[in-house]
Order: sequence, then structure tokens, then C-alpha cells
Amino acid sequence: MTRITIDGRDLEVEPGTTVLDAVRALGGSVPTLCFDERQAPFGACRVCLVGADGAPGPIPACTTPCRDGMVIDTHDETARRVATAVVELVLSELPEPPAEHTELAAVARALDVGEPRWPGAQHDGDHDERHPYLAFQHELCISCGRCVRACEEVQGAFALTATGRGFTANVAAGLDAGFLDSACVSCGACADTCPTDAITELSLLTPVHPRPA
Ligand code: SF4
Ligand code: FES
Repeated sequence: MTRITIDGRDLEVEPGTTVLDAVRALGGSVPTLCFDERQAPFGACRVCLVGADGAPGPIPACTTPCRDGMVIDTHDETARRVATAVVELVLSELPEPPAEHTELAAVARALDVGEPRWPGAQHDGDHDERHPYLAFQHELCISCGRCVRACEEVQGAFALTATGRGFTANVAAGLDAGFLDSACVSCGACADTCPTDAITELSLLTPVHPRPA
């Protein structure tokens, strides 16, 4: 077993257990954005940062395995400051605040993220509503990769592909021909895992995103 201390509480975990799993085993929480417990950890967003004694800086809880004697601080000031800035930057690129029920909105609330301090370029509206059940609102995509991994790992369908880099990073279905002409089998795993509603069930779209005539 591996012994670890989290926020002053000792815990023994199986070797290979991640810091995030250990925190959760103690009933604690760390905000996450690119993590979905149904998928292999990806470590892309850096929202799950925590402090670790002896480490040169905060570490991502979702991808870091526990090591014997590790001392973790989930309230580490630097970790919280960086994670908050990451979410603030993500929000600053969206054309509108995330819907209240989304995971992104919940993470922003948990980190007490207010108005973006660095307003910059925002994504233009870009909807694909050709699929009978699924809608893609590309401007809400934060490139967390969860939909791509859900499609590959959960469904084995490989219908989605990460595209672009930086501000232009997004996700395409098929060869950018939309869900309808991709390998999509309409399982809905992508919509289920999407933390922003960038991919959502067509029937759930509100009048804020009306279908084209
Ligand atoms: S569509 Fe959703 S799940 Fe996929 S990368 Fe964008 S935000 Fe993440
Ligand atoms: S949730 Fe850990 S890096 Fe994104």
C-alpha cells in the first residue's frame, strides 16, 4: 500500500491510485474540467492543481499517482490561483457565459471566477444541426477532448477529431462533414460528457440557439 497525507489526514491507497482518487476517497474535492472518471485521465486543462510538499510547483491531481510519503494540500494558494486563471481565460473566449447547469459553470462557481480580467477575442457562433439528435455549437468548445475520448474509449467509434491549436482548437465530426456523415452511431456519449454543452442533444437547445430556418 502507498501512504499519503491530504490536508493533514493520512490515507493508505493501492499503488497507482491518483491523487484525485485519493482526495475523493477522503470525501474531499478538487475542481476538474478535462477529467471524466469514465475515461483515462488526460491532464490537459490544469484545473485540478494541488500543492505537493517538495514539488517545484502545483501538480495535476487527475494524472499524478500517489507516492509513499506524499503530502498534498488541496487548498494550496498557488494551485488555486493558476486554476482560477485557467478557467478565467477559458471563459473569456466564449461568446456568452456557460449555461448554469454545465460543468464549466459549476467549476467557475467553485473557483469563484468573476468577470474575465483579460477580455480578448471571442469565438463566433458556428452551429452544426444537421444530425437528427445531436447539435454542435462549436463556439462553446473549450477543447477539453472529452468528447473525442468518449467516442474512442467508450464507443470505439472514432467519429470525432480534435482540430486546430490555441484559439482555433476545436472538434470536428468525420472529415468536418458533420455528425451525419461521420462514423457517429448516435450513442450520445459525447453530449453526455461535454462540460459546456458544445455538443448537446438537439432537443435540449433553448431559443438562445434557434435552429436555422
Ligand atoms: S465539444 Fe465539448 S467535450 Fe468536446 S472538446 Fe469541446 S468542450 Fe470538450
Ligand atoms: S482535470 Fe486534471 S488536468 Fe484537467
